[in-house]
Amino acid sequence: METKVAQVADLHADSRTIREAAQLLATGRLVVFPTETVYGIGANALDADAVAGIFAAKGRPQDNPLIAHVTALDDIFPLVADFPESARRLAEAFWPGPLTIILPKSDAVPLQTSGGLDTVAIRMPSHPVARAIIRQAGVPVAAPSANRSGGPSPTTAKHCIADLTGRVDMIVDGGECEVGLESTVLSLAGSVPRLLRPGAVTVSQLRKVLGEVEVDAAVTHQLEAGVAVRSPGLKYKHYAPKASMTLVHADKSRFHAFAEEKRGEAVWFLVFEEDLNAMKAMGANALAYGEEHSHSSQAKRLFSALRELDTAGAQTVYARAPSASGVGLAIYNRMLRAAGFHEIYL
Ligand code: TXA
Ligand code: MG
Repeated sequence: METKVAQVADLHADSRTIREAAQLLATGRLVVFPTETVYGIGANALDADAVAGIFAAKGRPQDNPLIAHVTALDDIFPLVADFPESARRLAEAFWPGPLTIILPKSDAVPLQTSGGLDTVAIRMPSHPVARAIIRQAGVPVAAPSANRSGGPSPTTAKHCIADLTGRVDMIVDGGECEVGLESTVLSLAGSVPRLLRPGAVTVSQLRKVLGEVEVDAAVTHQLEAGVAVRSPGLKYKHYAPKASMTLVHADKSRFHAFAEEKRGEAVWFLVFEEDLNAMKAMGANALAYGEEHSHSSQAKRLFSALRELDTAGAQTVYARAPSASGVGLAIYNRMLRAAGFHEIYL
């Protein structure tokens, strides 16, 4: 299929692009659009055939459910069997924004969208382009990250063009995503709220609103074969560059000594901006994913950096681990998966 790429420089002036994207979604086609977290590949969440197109375009396993994106609370009620008080409080505190809430689904949501589950994931994005497109489409929009399944999520239109040209009807370019990591996923379907995927909305922020929040073991641990999974996405390999990556927990001087020991080996280092000069002085191949003391800069840079390692032809990568507090938990979670859970402590 032919993929149209359209820029959105200014929302008003580009209403034609928005209209065209919305029209495509309303008629069962696939549109890639920017959100504040990562780019998404969208289809009408209520149209099982359209949703099937997403799985085909991404090469995504059919049992991995999608998030339905809406722009207003009123658009959620038809999708869920129940909208508890806790969901209302979360909506008030974090929507629109990078939080996804899982609730029991209504019959209106096809099983293709929910991956066969009796729950549905809902998110209200804040990105103006996403909001304009979804509002005009007039339907809830199912949208996973717009990467080929297993690879790093896209944070620029260029990433989407590389992954999905010929596989979607349209790619709307709205510049670089502000957050850079996918939304926090929280399930309200059980007796205690449970974090399934960490993101820019942190565990402590959630606890301030809800009180008790459990963190699923799969956030920081590899699932053993045969163990029941709460979020199907957690069992698949994710965010992985082609290189084999090891996550290295070390302070600056230990990491630099470690890099020094590898001098002359054909390896790459994924480090912080502050490490680059020392890496250069050693003649080491190195790329940075943000500043050591800024989780937001790390979140924004990580997926681009993983793609750049591929482009550079890196085979073996040693990545300096972030601190795992606050938003750092989300960065650590993605890097752990990119490294196939391979980590060392120095
Ligand atoms: O930031 C985001 O959430 C982006 C943008 C485009 O909105 N979307 C995104 O979608 O990351 P995706 O499909 O790549 O990740 C959705 C995650 C998957 O791990 C999936 O398994 C989980 O949410 N999920 C979706 N519905 C679920 C459900 N009913 N129960 C448990 N987990 C669910
Ligand atoms: Mg994804």
